[in-house]
Amino acid sequence: MCFIIHMTLASLTVMIISLTVYGDQTPCPTNGWFGPDCQYQCHCAESGICDKDNGSCSSGCHQDWFGPACQYARMGFTVLGNFSSGWLTDNKDRTCNRENLRSVTVTLDTPIPLTWLRVVVSDAVHLNTVKISYWNKSSTSRECPESYTAEITKFTADFSCLTDYPVTSLTLSDHGVNYLCSLIISAGLFITYTGGILAL
Ligand SMILES: *[C@@H]1O[C@H](CO)[C@@H](O)[C@H](O)[C@H]1NC(C)=O
Ligand SMILES: *[C@@H]1O[C@H](CO)[C@@H](O)[C@H](O)[C@H]1NC(C)=O
Ligand SMILES: *[C@@H]1O[C@H](CO)[C@@H](O)[C@H](O)[C@H]1NC(C)=O
Repeated sequence: MCFIIHMTLASLTVMIISLTVYGDQTPCPTNGWFGPDCQYQCHCAESGICDKDNGSCSSGCHQDWFGPACQYARMGFTVLGNFSSGWLTDNKDRTCNRENLRSVTVTLDTPIPLTWLRVVVSDAVHLNTVKISYWNKSSTSRECPESYTAEITKFTADFSCLTDYPVTSLTLSDHGVNYLCSLIISAGLFITYTGGILAL
C-alpha cells in the first residue's frame, strides 16, 4: 500500500514533468490555472503567482493544500490541551515545539480514513523518533508503522498509515515531539481541472 501512495506521488511528478515538456510558453490568461491548456487549478497562498507549467506557487501553497503543485488536500485538525499550539498550526516549518511537550493530541475536524501524514522536525536526528497512534470514538488506540516511508528533506518525512475506517484523533509521542514543527494529515490528491475533479 505504501507503494501505491508513492506511485501516486510519482505519477504527479510525471504529470508535472510532462506538462513542463509539452507546455507552450504563453502564460495562462488567468493566474490560478496551469498546464498545457491551463486546465488545472492552482492552490496558491493569497496573491501568489502560479507557475504556468508546473503549478508551483511563488508564495507557497494555500493553507488547505500542500505538495509540489499544491494538489494534495490537507485535513484540518484541532490541537487538544492547554498550551499555545500556534507553532503546530501556523503552516510554518520554522516555528517548532519550544515547550518541552512530550506528546501532542489532535482531533480531526472531519473524521477520515488515514492515508499518510507528513511530519517536520527541527533536528534531523529525530525525524524517525516520532510515534503516531490513532483511534476513533469507539476503539482503543492503534499505532502507525514506526518508520517513515519517504524522506522528503533532512527534516521532513512522510509516514504511511492506512486505516479502512474513519479516524477521529491522533497522538504524536516519543522524543521527536520535542523537535516537532509541523504536522500535515493528507486528505488525498484532488486535481481540479476544467472538466471536473480527479480524486486519486
Ligand atoms: C516549477 O517551475 C519553476 C520555474 O521553471 C521552477 O523554479 C520550480 O522549481 C518548478 N517546481 C517544481 C515543483 O517542479
Ligand atoms: C491554562 O494554562 C494557563 C497558564 O499555565 C493557566 O493560567 C490557565 O488557567 C489554564 N487554563 C485552563 C482552562 O486550564
Ligand atoms: C472504530 O475502529 C474500529 C477498529 O479499531 C473499527 O472496527 C470500527 O469500525 C471503527 N468505528 C467507526 C465508527 O469507524
